[in-house]
Amino acid sequence: MLTPLLKVKRLNELAATGQLKGKRVFIRADLNVPQDEAGNITEDTRIRASIPAIQMCLDSGAAVMVTSHLGRPSEGAFKPEDSLAPIAHRIAELLNRKVPLISNWVDGGFDLAVGDVVILENCRVNVGEKKNTDELAKKMAALCDVYVNDAFGTAHRAEATTYGIARYAKVACAGPLMAAELDALSRALAEPKRPLVAIVAGSKVSTKLTILKSLAEKVDELIVGGGIANTFIKAMGFEVGSSLFEEELVPAAKKIIDKLSRRGASLPIISDVVCGKKLDANERATTKNIKDISKDDMIFDLGKDSVDEIVKCIHNAKTIIWNGPIGVFEFDQFAKGTETMTRAIADSPAFSLAGGGDTIAAIEKFKVAKDISYISTAGGAFLEFAEGKKLPAIEILERRF
Ligand code: 3PG
Repeated sequence: MLTPLLKVKRLNELAATGQLKGKRVFIRADLNVPQDEAGNITEDTRIRASIPAIQMCLDSGAAVMVTSHLGRPSEGAFKPEDSLAPIAHRIAELLNRKVPLISNWVDGGFDLAVGDVVILENCRVNVGEKKNTDELAKKMAALCDVYVNDAFGTAHRAEATTYGIARYAKVACAGPLMAAELDALSRALAEPKRPLVAIVAGSKVSTKLTILKSLAEKVDELIVGGGIANTFIKAMGFEVGSSLFEEELVPAAKKIIDKLSRRGASLPIISDVVCGKKLDANERATTKNIKDISKDDMIFDLGKDSVDEIVKCIHNAKTIIWNGPIGVFEFDQFAKGTETMTRAIADSPAFSLAGGGDTIAAIEKFKVAKDISYISTAGGAFLEFAEGKKLPAIEILERRF
């Protein structure tokens, strides 16, 4: 159930009370999926996650429009690679029905009857989308009776399809995916069962500094990995050789360690790491104590003793928040740390919440998706929510409640 902290109208309530019958429903989904160079979709989680909202509207007798952004195109300059055509095709397969793609839709004039689903071409090519102009927002609101935001992945953007339209639409509500995401994140962050363990990994402290600072105030254990761990290893007074790290953020890492220890929380000790000399699929992996790192070593994974410490924390946890793999898991010789940690999270009875593209890739690689309590479809929005920021798309839905 959606936590009472977030007071937003929900699509399932409208459906259950017959308020969608005969209505034109505009769904803002996040269908921003990875594609290969030929435009083929390489991972379709977000598309599959958008289907329940569409189906709910169809089952309730509505006429359904769905839009999303794809990439970051230039407004007013549509290019073939910006097209949602492959996505419309995939949605048609999943719904097992025709799903036309509509271009130049802002002023209406396209056919849409009850029982139809259409995809409205990439909303970010519309002039005024990014700046959230009133003119565009009002035109889009006029297309529908009910606006549904089901795009949690884009909830940190105040754009015309995520914010402005919600101001002007007759009814504005959260879709089932948005509701499930808000519920899972609130459960892990607002009212967590303790011990609360957070894993923040990835290449750079700079991209995750705010979340590290904010989690340092809340968690019982903070696990760092990847390039982020290297900056923390430096902050603990050890060398990282030629590894990626951010010199200017060493003081910030020290402050985070201090803050944790002042609160009686901790950062599991990193005692050993797995190194190579260059990032290469055939590079030899060598485990070293962190006191023995040489100038030309590059750290690509945590060693067994360090990972054992992490696994201990995970075993004690009642809530686990996970963003980022702890090593270069794409190469098998540097994947052991991420694999062991991933399996420990999957085996844990704690409520586990995972988010971010690389995290999902690790979950897929080690085939543990069904054992993670909730996998968020969001990247940036997941981090901003976890930082404690008010996400604009949620703020406007709350205001419309
Ligand atoms: C994402 O992939 O994180 C979302 O779709 C948001 O995309 P954006 O960063 O281009 O706004």
